[in-house]
Amino acid sequence: MDVLDTATWETRAAALADELVAAGVLADPAWRDAFAATPRHLFVPRILDGPASLGTGDPGWLDAVYSDESLATQTRPAADAPAGREITSSSSSKPTVMAVMLERLAAEPGHRVLEIGTGTGYNTALLSHRLGADNVYSLDLDPDLVDAAHEHLTAAGYSPHLAAGDGFAGWPGEMKFDRIIATCAVTAIPPAWIDQLADGGRIVAPLDAGTAGPLLVLDKTADDEVAGRIDPFPVLFMPMRTDVESPFGPGQEPVGASTGIPHYGTTAVDPAALLDRPDLELFLWLHAPGLQFGGSLEHGVVVAERGPARAEADLTPLAEGTWAVRQSGPYRLWDTIEHAAATFDALDKPDAARLGVTALNVPGKQFIWLDDPDSDHSWPLGSGF
Ligand SMILES: C[S@@+](CC[C@H](N)C(=O)[O-])C[C@H]1O[C@@H](n2cnc3c(N)ncnc32)[C@H](O)[C@@H]1O
Repeated sequence: MDVLDTATWETRAAALADELVAAGVLADPAWRDAFAATPRHLFVPRILDGPASLGTGDPGWLDAVYSDESLATQTRPAADAPAGREITSSSSSKPTVMAVMLERLAAEPGHRVLEIGTGTGYNTALLSHRLGADNVYSLDLDPDLVDAAHEHLTAAGYSPHLAAGDGFAGWPGEMKFDRIIATCAVTAIPPAWIDQLADGGRIVAPLDAGTAGPLLVLDKTADDEVAGRIDPFPVLFMPMRTDVESPFGPGQEPVGASTGIPHYGTTAVDPAALLDRPDLELFLWLHAPGLQFGGSLEHGVVVAERGPARAEADLTPLAEGTWAVRQSGPYRLWDTIEHAAATFDALDKPDAARLGVTALNVPGKQFIWLDDPDSDHSWPLGSGF
């Protein structure tokens, strides 16, 4: 039973919808109506906030529910962290981000939509309101989340198609969708999504690219291909994962130091000059997925890649303008970064909006390009599947 009277939640939901319109992230009146008509409180009966937790009716709960914030609803232990540290494995996404993604999806009534990452079911409810629940299909890896989302959606009066399963494989069975929206971040486009996308279809998915990745907005360009530009709107999503018990995606589980014989050298590229430049950081990440900078300039800078193939580079200041570099792992990470940084400068410091992706439904045949799909500057996307 709903714990709130209708007037209370409707006023708050309408205020949230108006906030999204005022912020310029929601232009389509039909999506504004969907936000105003969808009772978010039914989807987040418990919000996890660090070690604290807010439940239905607690002071502050309702304010949080109808705020433009992402609300964590499930966590999992972080394998590499001191006991007790947890990482968010499911949440109700930030409404601003949901609004931007739903608008980019350009879904129209009559379209059949697949959502990867049901989570609380709130976005599924927005889609159901706009497109009719019978046109909405949503998958989550975690069967407990799907059960909970089913309850939330029923309480809100919607009965879309739900299933538990790994979204990498798409919707079970032979189905075609006009739109596919992922609410977990991908390193590349799962081939099954390309196969299940109807002619004229579109995929909107967050790209797993550092602290806040951009969005991929890709249209079907051939039976076996999607292509489109990278949308620079910054979104932060948890990675698509394959293990219900882990918050990490494939190959993202932190591992120990790399082994093997290291390579030693020097560099004149100041590592500090690579930091705090979002366009460059994205460009570097897209050449070395999982890139992280750590350490400090006085005590040496560690640049590590966390990914299926972990590579590391430790930089230690030598004389003025020179650093000693020790590289270990399956490839020379610092050489890759140095080369990508030089390319970035040579290409006139491209921002995300100059980048695009062409993805075939064949593992390893997915590419990033600069300015246009036939560009001379093109390189592999992510680690492939
Ligand atoms: C940010 S939450 C989704 C938010 C949701 N759309 C909502 O409105 O509440 C991301 C979800 O993606 C799910 N997920 C992660 N990897 C997945 C996979 N391989 N297949 C399906 N779902 C996955 C997680 O379990 C999590 O519930």
